[in-house]
Order: sequence, then C-alpha cells, then structure tokens
Amino acid sequence: MKRIGILSLGAFAPPKRLTNADLERTVDTTDEWIVRRTGIRERRIAEGMNASDLAVEAARACLAGRAERPDLVVASSSTAETSCPYQASRIAHALALESPAAFDVNAACSGLVYSLAIASSLMRSGPFRRALVTAGEKMSLFTDYTDRTSCILFGDGGAAALLTDEGWEHELTDWELGCEPWGAELVRMGDRQGNPNFWQDGKQVFKFAVQTLERVLGILRTRAGLAPGDRYFVVPHQANLRVAEAVAEQTGLPMERFVMNVQRYGNTSSASIGLALEEAAREGRFRAGDTVFLIGFGGGLSWAGATLKW
Ligand code: COA
Repeated sequence: MKRIGILSLGAFAPPKRLTNADLERTVDTTDEWIVRRTGIRERRIAEGMNASDLAVEAARACLAGRAERPDLVVASSSTAETSCPYQASRIAHALALESPAAFDVNAACSGLVYSLAIASSLMRSGPFRRALVTAGEKMSLFTDYTDRTSCILFGDGGAAALLTDEGWEHELTDWELGCEPWGAELVRMGDRQGNPNFWQDGKQVFKFAVQTLERVLGILRTRAGLAPGDRYFVVPHQANLRVAEAVAEQTGLPMERFVMNVQRYGNTSSASIGLALEEAAREGRFRAGDTVFLIGFGGGLSWAGATLKW
C-alpha cells in the first residue's frame, strides 16, 4: 500500500483586519465580552477577493519553488462564489495545471480534514501521485454585520497542502470521519430561499464541539499507539478558544499542546485548521517524531480527524 504524506503547506490571510474595537463601533458588544467568550481579538476580511482567490493564494504559497505539479485537486469550501464553475476547477485554471482530476468538498468546518482523507484515499487506491488539497473560505459573505451574536466570530482565509506518495515530510497515517445528522439544522448558512446568513444554536454546538474534540482525539490517540512520554499536538478547528480550554481541562493535556490562532483570525471555517497548522509548522513548533492530530467539527454536524507523523 502506498504511503502518503504532506510535502508542503501554504496559507493566505487577506491583509484587512477587523478588530474587536471596530465591532464595538458597529454593534452592541465589547472587546471584553468577545475575548472572554471566544478568545477572538481580530479577524481578516477579504476585500475584492472571492473564496477561490483565497484558496489560490494559499495554493501558490504551498507550491512555490516546487517542480511537482498536482494531478488531483480537492477543494474544500462552503462559501464558494459560484457552485459552477466549482472551486477546484478555478484553482486548477489559475495554477495552469494540466488536466488534473478536480472536485469540491463541502463538509462545513470539517471540510479540509475530509478533503485530506479523500485525497489520500484516492492516491492509495488510484493513479494519483500529487494531490493539492485546499480550503478557501469567505465567511464575511454570509455574515450579518448587524447581528452581534455571530458577526464577532468569523474571518476569511485560505489554506493548502500538497500530498505526495514519495518524498513527503509528514506522513498522514490515519483518519476518522463522521456526521451527527440529529444536529443537521443547528448550523445554517447559504439558504437560497431564505436568509443566507450564518445562524447557529451556539450553546448546543458548543457542547457538541467539546464532546467531539475530546472523543475524536481519544480515538486517534488510541490508534496512534503513543508510548508514555511521546509528544503530541492537537490542531482543532478554530471556532472558539473556550472549546480547546474545556477539552484541555477534561483531558489534562496542557493548553500549549493545542495549536490555536483563533485569537488573530477568528473562525475561518474549513480554512482554520490549515491556517493554524501552517503557522505552527513555519514557527518550528513541532519536531521530528511528534504526532499532530487535526480535528475538525462544525455544521452538519460534521466531524473529521487526521493523524500526521511529524
Ligand atoms: N456582545 C455582547 N453580548 C452578547 C454578544 C456580543 N457579541 N453576543 C451575545 N451576547 C449576549 C446574548 O444576547 C446573551 O444575553 P442574555 O443572557 O441577556 O440573553 C448573552 O450574551 C449570552 O449569549 P450566549 O449566546 O448564551 O453566549 P455563549 O457563551 O453561548 O457564546 C458563542 C456564544 C457563539 C461564542 C458560543 O456559543 C460558541 O462558540 N458556540 C460554538 C461555536 C462552534 O463551535 N461552532 C462550530 C461551527 S461553526
């Protein structure tokens, strides 16, 4: 069986910052409330760019200086500017790729991890050798900036990973995917017949997020067969700092082992794990031999985990 891993990562955050102080001027909220309930201090907003542009910029960063050309493109998005052309075809066009297999995945905030699992499975079972996996999310498109309960949460961003079947640096050894259909209506966005703006039952989703992060971490950790003293990190979906803090408290895993940058980017849906992973890798936070668990959760109610050997 082919072994698949990540050769390179890329990320893109648009330059415009929307701070809590900015939001204090437009809705009835305070920096203190936002930081205490979510940890978020600022987010990025894409002006003059669509969701696919964010994915393209991340993909360019991921492929910069590399000769490898992807033969498979899997693009995660729940905020694509059009349903057709779909995002993966726009990305393949922008990068001038030659006839790759290309398709989109929408599993809300879990989409990037779903896409990594799908791409690596297609590579193991089929002819593909180099897969570009992207997430491009323009959450600001579906955010009601008069609604204080949701406009404080979201930001825009893109992320990308190049998977290869040889020469990779970080092996993708395991994944776990799922969905809890009972909660299908608890997160809504993009309604074409009604209100397209984001809505969630925050309290119920918060409970689901904490339980799911802890449960999926337990599954992946057990299967990874870690020995006592083995170092591991968790890169969770960046929805709310308090989700990670609750899981840290319940599991006894110190907060330093949770890779968090929601404070600076807000919730960028499926791009968030990629943005956090790329930043931590660039800053040299992981060392060879570490295990890195990526764990997404969100609308659907979907969840997805993947294990990387650093
Ligand atoms: N500023 C000030 N007050 C606010 C506010 C804001 N931006 N937003 C809400 N409030 C108020 C509410 O009106 C409410 O007031 P009330 O008690 O007088 O009715 C109070 O603060 C508490 O609101 P509540 O919605 O219960 O807050 P919360 O602690 O549940 O936090 C979320 C809200 C959205 C931050 C939190 O529920 C959350 O993060 N949920 C999970 C998100 C997630 O994981 N999503 C993944 C899929 S995207």
